[in-house]
Amino acid sequence: MKAVGVVPSRKEVRQLEHPHPQITRDNEVHIRTLEVGICGTDREICTFAYGQPPAGDDYLVLGHECLGEVVEVGAKVRHFKTGDLVVPSVRRPCPDPNCIPCREGRQDFCSTWKFTERGINQRHGYMTEYFVEEEAYLTPVPKSLRDAAVLAEPLTIAEKGLAQAWLVQKRVPGWEHHNRDGKGRGHGKTAVVLGAGPIGLLGAMKLLIEGFKVFVYSRSPKPNFKADLAESIGAEYISAVKMGADDFSQKVGNIDLVYEAVGEGSVSFDVMRVLGINGVFIFTGIPAQKPAIPIRADSTMRNITLKNQALIGTVNASPQAFIDAIHDLGEFKRRWPAAVKALITGRHKIDAHRELLVGKAQGIKNVIEFA
Ligand code: BGC
Ligand code: ZN
Repeated sequence: MKAVGVVPSRKEVRQLEHPHPQITRDNEVHIRTLEVGICGTDREICTFAYGQPPAGDDYLVLGHECLGEVVEVGAKVRHFKTGDLVVPSVRRPCPDPNCIPCREGRQDFCSTWKFTERGINQRHGYMTEYFVEEEAYLTPVPKSLRDAAVLAEPLTIAEKGLAQAWLVQKRVPGWEHHNRDGKGRGHGKTAVVLGAGPIGLLGAMKLLIEGFKVFVYSRSPKPNFKADLAESIGAEYISAVKMGADDFSQKVGNIDLVYEAVGEGSVSFDVMRVLGINGVFIFTGIPAQKPAIPIRADSTMRNITLKNQALIGTVNASPQAFIDAIHDLGEFKRRWPAAVKALITGRHKIDAHRELLVGKAQGIKNVIEFA
């Protein structure tokens, strides 16, 4: 079968021949890959700074943002049948019997760090024509989301991040935890999204449907197509080059929540310094190692204490986050059909993999079609 992956020992990014997998256990599902999104993690693996092939293989098949179609089910598979659309998750549990998160299906909180990840860490990914996966790691997708569900995995980052924020903000009287008035749990609150890539724009959509007033704070000056997209969904876009963090916070007022999706330390810590009273800051980025930078540590720390702030890091996602992502993509499509379409910059054939993985990053979300 055709696949796309890396051979770290030879520093190669290329098309590979990968064996066609078969169902070997009753709870497995055989899936035809329809499309796979490319993200910063894939591009980083292609610099050989991250990622690891499965034991015994010299290559790693890439891809963890996938939409597939069921072609065959094992005898004990209960929730899927041939023809169903599915999105598989990424992380698989560690083997340690004492790792409670993994034993409870919450390997996104694995406590040993011995988890594996498809397409990233010791398991082959989905940039291949077919794959086999256990039913438990699949989320069903309605046919109406055939054109958007490849965005589900990147959206799970926002789903898990926001779920954490609601839990943490239970500490603050006045943060709503129910959509009581139908205006959303974030109604009356201000959220700032750092970065206007796919994670940022999907995060902005999620925050908007939760009722927040949303500002997208990103480098590029207006006009640019990401700013246009952000404003078309009802967020306000502000360029970090045109307005520094202090002026930005003056303009925005109390920043109740920051959703970091820029993957870069300097702007993140600059905005952390202007996080508002009782605010929560959610980190999702995984920056590459760079030289140390100065940050205004004392004023930031002073605010963290005096303003009761909370900082949350979030990685990977729960099964519920996948269910929520599929649900919310439906809502996004109802509200903003053109914007959801515009998030997917291009659908490419497998031959384009090199340019997409090692060429200059372009557009928002690029996808490789396998079928
Ligand atoms: C994926 C996560 C994964 C993380 C770290 C991200 O790109 O979306 O599922 O846990 O990389 O490997
Ligand atoms: Zn990713």
